[in-house]
Amino acid sequence: MPSMEDDHYLEWKLLIEERTGMVLPDERRSFLTTSLGIRMREVGFRSYRDYYNFILDGHEGTVEWTTLVDRLTVHETRFFRHMSSVKMIRELLLPEWMSQDEPPKTLNIWSVGCSTGEEAYTLAMVLDEFRETDYADYYYGITASDISIASLATGRKGVFHSRKLQCVEDAVRRKYFVRVDDTHFQVRDDLRKRVCFAQLNVLEMERRPFGKMHMIFCQNMLIYFDCERRVEILDNLVKYLEPGGVLILGAGEILGWNPPTLEKILFNDTLAFRRLTAV
Ligand SMILES: C[S@@+](CC[C@H](N)C(=O)[O-])C[C@H]1O[C@@H](n2cnc3c(N)ncnc32)[C@H](O)[C@@H]1O
Repeated sequence: MPSMEDDHYLEWKLLIEERTGMVLPDERRSFLTTSLGIRMREVGFRSYRDYYNFILDGHEGTVEWTTLVDRLTVHETRFFRHMSSVKMIRELLLPEWMSQDEPPKTLNIWSVGCSTGEEAYTLAMVLDEFRETDYADYYYGITASDISIASLATGRKGVFHSRKLQCVEDAVRRKYFVRVDDTHFQVRDDLRKRVCFAQLNVLEMERRPFGKMHMIFCQNMLIYFDCERRVEILDNLVKYLEPGGVLILGAGEILGWNPPTLEKILFNDTLAFRRLTAV
């Protein structure tokens, strides 16, 4: 592939930031050129500028962008990735909600930037398990959204390589997964039915097709955005929290953000905010 001139690099960097919110640090320049190069070879472009113009132009460019964005975003994720958050849901939030005089009959949960679905399925397992062991009577639904169509398709299938299940306890694996072949497992059907995957760019939140949430789980996505954008996204996310609903972030994902409508909850290294009043 040709080397990338500085002005082309800046054009691409700005386009990605404008459309996805992701800020590419200069150390990731070679990642950008390699990813673009591979995709350009696949679709038959030899110049970054021609490919850039193609992306900006018309329907075909829009379709191509959806593939490219998948190559440029980081999809690393795991089942039970952040155990302190899982513990907070099990030991603090669910017991609290279910011991209210009128516990909610339905819990709506949103995994934002869900990648290939491991986070959403983890939440489903936690909610399912709690319902059984604590005899709580609720229905739950999980919305899992991401910008990457390819990741959502993987999530929807719910088939994972056994390597991906290494951190899943045996009992949980036996209970919630069905073996597909020597190396793959699929999430149990009834659990998959509880998770609805939807494409959503967090910069276009007004287009979201769903209502208010009891819990919004947003981890390892904000870190790719600059501080201003993180605040903008969080301010928007909390508009979709039910009163009393909780936004769960990873520790250190935002500093100095504490709107008066929210109460901060610190649970081990989980950072969460409870909505107090109507926003
Ligand atoms: C590193 S993964 C995090 C997955 C999961 N939340 C976890 O913690 O394991 C980050 C995800 O954010 C998604 N993402 C990046 N920019 C986005 C945007 N503007 N709107 C929606 N999702 C985005 C990426 O496609 C990627 O799947």
